[in-house]
Amino acid sequence: MDEGGSRIRRRVSVRKRTRPGLESAFPVPAAAELGPRESGEPREPEKLEEEEEEPCAGGRRRRTAELQPLEHNDSEEDMFGDNDSFAENSILAQVDDLEQKYMRVSEHREDSTDVTTENVCLENVECDRLSNTAAGDSTKLNVNGYTKNQRRLKAASHEPEADVLYDIPSSQVLYFESMQNFSDNLGGQTNKDRKWDSSSCKMVSEELSHSIKQPQGTDESSSKVRSSSDVNRRKSLKDYLKSAMTGNAKAQTPVLSRTKQLQETLLAEEISMAKKTMESSSNDLGPFYSLPSRVRDLYAQFKGIEQLYEWQHTCLTLNSVQERRNLIYSLPTSGGKTLVAEILMLQELLCRKKDVLMILPYVAIVQEKISSLSSFAIELGFFVEEYAGSKGKFPPIKRREKKSLYIATIEKGHSLVNSLIETERINCLGLVVIDELHMIGEGSRGAVLEMTLAKILYTSKTTQIIGMSATLNNVRDLQQFLQAAYYTSQFRPVELKEYLKINETIYEVDSKTENGMTFSRLLNYKYSDALKKMDPDHLVALVTEVIPNYSCLVFCPTKKNCENVAEMICKFLSKDYLKHKEKEKHEVIKNLKNISNGHVCPVLKRTIPFGVAYHHSGLTSDERKLLEEAYSTGVLCLFTCTSTLAAGVNLPARRVILRAPYVAKEFLRRNQYKQMIGRAGRAGIDTTGESILILQEKDKKQVLDLISSPLENCYSHLVQEFTKGIQTLFLSLIGLKIATNIGDIYHFMSGTFFGVQQKILLKEKSLWEITVEALNYLTEKGLLQKDTILTEKELLQEETISKSKGEFQCNFYITKLGRASFKGTIDVAYCDILYKDLKKGLEGLMLESLLHLIYLTTPYDMAPQCEPDWMIYFRQFNQLSPAEQKVAALVGVSESFIGKKVSGQAIKKKVDKNIVNRLYLALILYTLLKETNIWSVSEKFNMPRGYIQNLLTGAASFSSCVLHFCEELDEFWVYRALLVELTKKLTYCVKAELIPLMEVTGVLEGRAKQLYNAGYRSLMHLANADTEVLIETIDHLSRRQAKQIISSAKMLLHEKAEALQEEVEQLLRLPSDVPGGVASSTEKA
Ligand SMILES: Nc1ncnc2c1ncn2[C@@H]1O[C@H](COP(=O)(O)OP(=O)(O)O)[C@@H](O)[C@H]1O
Ligand SMILES: [Mg+2]
Repeated sequence: MDEGGSRIRRRVSVRKRTRPGLESAFPVPAAAELGPRESGEPREPEKLEEEEEEPCAGGRRRRTAELQPLEHNDSEEDMFGDNDSFAENSILAQVDDLEQKYMRVSEHREDSTDVTTENVCLENVECDRLSNTAAGDSTKLNVNGYTKNQRRLKAASHEPEADVLYDIPSSQVLYFESMQNFSDNLGGQTNKDRKWDSSSCKMVSEELSHSIKQPQGTDESSSKVRSSSDVNRRKSLKDYLKSAMTGNAKAQTPVLSRTKQLQETLLAEEISMAKKTMESSSNDLGPFYSLPSRVRDLYAQFKGIEQLYEWQHTCLTLNSVQERRNLIYSLPTSGGKTLVAEILMLQELLCRKKDVLMILPYVAIVQEKISSLSSFAIELGFFVEEYAGSKGKFPPIKRREKKSLYIATIEKGHSLVNSLIETERINCLGLVVIDELHMIGEGSRGAVLEMTLAKILYTSKTTQIIGMSATLNNVRDLQQFLQAAYYTSQFRPVELKEYLKINETIYEVDSKTENGMTFSRLLNYKYSDALKKMDPDHLVALVTEVIPNYSCLVFCPTKKNCENVAEMICKFLSKDYLKHKEKEKHEVIKNLKNISNGHVCPVLKRTIPFGVAYHHSGLTSDERKLLEEAYSTGVLCLFTCTSTLAAGVNLPARRVILRAPYVAKEFLRRNQYKQMIGRAGRAGIDTTGESILILQEKDKKQVLDLISSPLENCYSHLVQEFTKGIQTLFLSLIGLKIATNIGDIYHFMSGTFFGVQQKILLKEKSLWEITVEALNYLTEKGLLQKDTILTEKELLQEETISKSKGEFQCNFYITKLGRASFKGTIDVAYCDILYKDLKKGLEGLMLESLLHLIYLTTPYDMAPQCEPDWMIYFRQFNQLSPAEQKVAALVGVSESFIGKKVSGQAIKKKVDKNIVNRLYLALILYTLLKETNIWSVSEKFNMPRGYIQNLLTGAASFSSCVLHFCEELDEFWVYRALLVELTKKLTYCVKAELIPLMEVTGVLEGRAKQLYNAGYRSLMHLANADTEVLIETIDHLSRRQAKQIISSAKMLLHEKAEALQEEVEQLLRLPSDVPGGVASSTEKA
């Protein structure tokens, strides 16, 4: 390794010098054979697919770093089994219970209620709580707090104006109470013996009943009153609580319930215990892997996970993990990798009190994770913040006490890290977790991921990096890059049997035999002539062996094929299938109609009654979510899908069928194959999972090669992705002052993944040459300036190189344009065009309609692949108002040009195709903003609704990029306010009143409308909603979804309140440099 590498390694080794040799401590895969890449370089699956299926969307992977890839898959996690109840078992719920009773008692006091009943009732609660041994200690604390509340209440009740207490926001009452509790606790409770035993239980119980008994007196006559009006009373209490909460919300005081206060005390106690355990060098892991036992309970409650798999335990107790070294672990799909990462993240958030970044591959997965972790966050006291699409704040809000878990897509994760480095807060990031780490080898997104990690390695000595991945061949390179330990296991919770089908014979894959397979059985299914013709691959036979009682996935090469196969199968399914879960399926269709303004895709309308649906990126995210939900609950039993379903989502099936060994026109790759078949077998439901790959005789050899070949290697794309890779990197290195002179930049480069693989990837050039070339390109483009007059040629000369590596300084500075591009994460390839377009806009921005502004924020990289339908273009053009037509003229598209295109006439004048296409896309967006209906726009422009939605998401992201770009350039100040609003419009693209509801992660348009119509009009309404009421009033809302919505809303509300509090504190803080030294004298005082 060269000098630079060792420099970086030295830095790292300071941090982790206690590491033993990796090989000695961990199973390390056999040394990878790192041959040069073949010319048939593996390509990205999605890209291939889109090229085939949807030419316009093909460029999505090539968008600017800020933009999200728009494959929306769903849940990584199967959470919240339907009968798990947030409200029933948790400590929070128990506290709630107690709280309610407390309220009731206070009412009884006035009503002179039956004391005995009340005591019995309270004692029961107490017993319930004590049976929860895990939370024993904390219960005690909690109950004490409660008792004190009672006392204070009692005192208050003797005062003539005790009721006044009820008129001030309960958060303030709570504040005073908790302050009192806190000081009381300090007074002795914390040092007392924490062991919970029956005597202390008794003592507390007694104290409890005692304190309640007193104020109530002994009026027995009221017992009847109580029992008869019990229901009403409960209700009125609920009303009371609700109105108190609403009052709080209206008053804009932070919503802090009593529950919250009690819960926090309780948790703080457990955490400080866990922290101590962690700090002590003993091997004692404390209640649950150095975490409060509450975490274990929550996993059981929310996810039904009672026990860790053996490998999960092993992994969590590895020396390297205990010592906080970087770690890569890889297991087959469905192995349960997420749980390990989550436990480590919670340790970091709760015990080490550091922020955590989790990077996930897709927007929809980020959202799902946020929904699923919000309830943990509320219970355990940390923030979950979304960094996906156009959401996310840069730099993130500094939190006062609680720590933040940022859940981000690859692109947003990168921007977040940049902003943390810029504000010198990178050390606050204790842990970074990357799911699907192998994506580092996939196109521009891989390059962005690589930059992010390299920057963290270079700038923060204390940030731990943990990467998860499906099994990889050349993990050693990644290990070297991340300086990471490695753990791997072949564990799968359900056994997987792999089969191949050729004609009517099924073979089992068997690596022990010579040709890799053994005969298994012949298909036994009577085919009519018609069926034989329609279904030569025997798909109907294969699927009917499992559905409807078990689930089945059929992977198809293209989107169109998915739809065709779904329809074909339904044509031949017996009518009996219609009866299976008939009512539920009917609901699904109704629900689809509901979320899509009365539209249902005709194909789905025909297939869903059979329990069958297609699943690909042509669906809107609302539709996809709904179908996935129906599949997870067994209402739908068969999905025909593209390979994108396999990447990331957790939708397992009893049987996985691969309709052909192709993804679009490309032959299947080993990693893709593994990922698809990995979906077979539902943990805890199926005893085995099976995969069947259907192939033709002609493909047999290639398939056998595929099955027996080792996994593909993972290669750096940093340099290959020129403008999106190395150039973007250099711009930000210099912009952020991470490395500004050529020597440092070179050193940085040698510590990247590319640096590790350079000798395999780019033999003909040295790393130095590559570095100089990229810097030079940026300088020529006016994005960088250098402080030396040396030319590129001179820089490449021998003596300069040796000097530069040593004492010779050649410093680079970022220009204004460079900074704007880097801040806006604008692809270097487009930054000068964007600049020109914006500049031209200053001369004559047409503001009578939004079209011009939309055009400016239409993503450049979507234009080349767009193929306008000229007839539609022409028709739309004709309907434009004079002002809108003027916009077209301003950007350089004339009606006559489009007219000629329609009639197929030759066009002499040279017209930039990208501009014409971009205006077409802008027209689509413009119509969408006006009509706010994806379906009608999709019809109008004859494009798949999923594509329209992707365009919208892309434009929303790009609009926020352009905004950041303009913020850096004074001449564009006028755009700023306009773009803030436009970004909002594009992000939500709905009627304004729905926006506050859609801020809640997971609430999409359809749902927002329902909620709004049911009276939930603000975030506060949602955060304070009652699960049961919500389920009752909102059609087709499962308990699980209702709970997720409420927890996400609570989380968001909490975040907002916290941010406002922070702002208030900042405003009131006395600056240290007030003239006259007021501050210093105050400080002294
Ligand atoms: N210890 C466990 N017991 C039961 N289920 C588990 C356990 N660990 C994980 N799971 C479940 O297994 C499924 C797959 O886990 P996941 O982490 O998504 O796998 P992958 O390794 O593919 O990332 C999830 O539904 C998860 O909740
Ligand atoms: Mg996973």
